[in-house]
Amino acid sequence: MKLSIPDPSLVLLVGPSGAGKSTFAQTHFRPTEILSSDGLRAVLAGDANDQAASGEAFHVLALLLNGRLKRRLLTVIDATNLRDTSRRRWLGQAARYGIPTVAISFDLADRLFEEHNVLRPDRQVETDVVRHQADRMEAAMAALPGEGYSQMYVLREPPALGEIEIVRIRG
Ligand code: CTP
Ligand code: MG
Repeated sequence: MKLSIPDPSLVLLVGPSGAGKSTFAQTHFRPTEILSSDGLRAVLAGDANDQAASGEAFHVLALLLNGRLKRRLLTVIDATNLRDTSRRRWLGQAARYGIPTVAISFDLADRLFEEHNVLRPDRQVETDVVRHQADRMEAAMAALPGEGYSQMYVLREPPALGEIEIVRIRG
């Protein structure tokens, strides 16, 4: 499966914890192209799960995003992006610099989010939290088509290694 992505663009990964967003980002993009809310919480608080550091983590993420978009650099936001308010914030930043946006959503069966979370070696998110996020994913899937992305891709299965090819279209 080929995913065409304008370069530059702002790529939002959308999906609950355990969806495979970070795995996908690290497989297909350079480390410097990825802005990760978990990564920034870990930098700020020494713990990627420390929700008390979220406000600052997203503030720093917005600053980094602004700097990259200003320089017309392709950027991937590795966060759940389940709330329309957070997506709107990123879309507004991209619009300011005339950078196209891409949504890649991980609309997998709810049980897969939970199964991935139990199996993961790095950090586990509570099942209740994952269930709540799965509910919000439904709302996100309904809202995404109206949010004006240049490209919108929906993954319905966990992508197998090598199955997805990202084709960058220079803009
Ligand atoms: N996983 C998998 N197959 C995939 C992707 C992920 O089995 N195609 C499993 C791996 O075991 C991995 C776990 O799911 O450890 C979580 O994947 P990750 O990419 O870390 O999920 P995220 O969506 O980034 O979760 P979070 O929002 O909590 O960061
Ligand atoms: Mg992740």
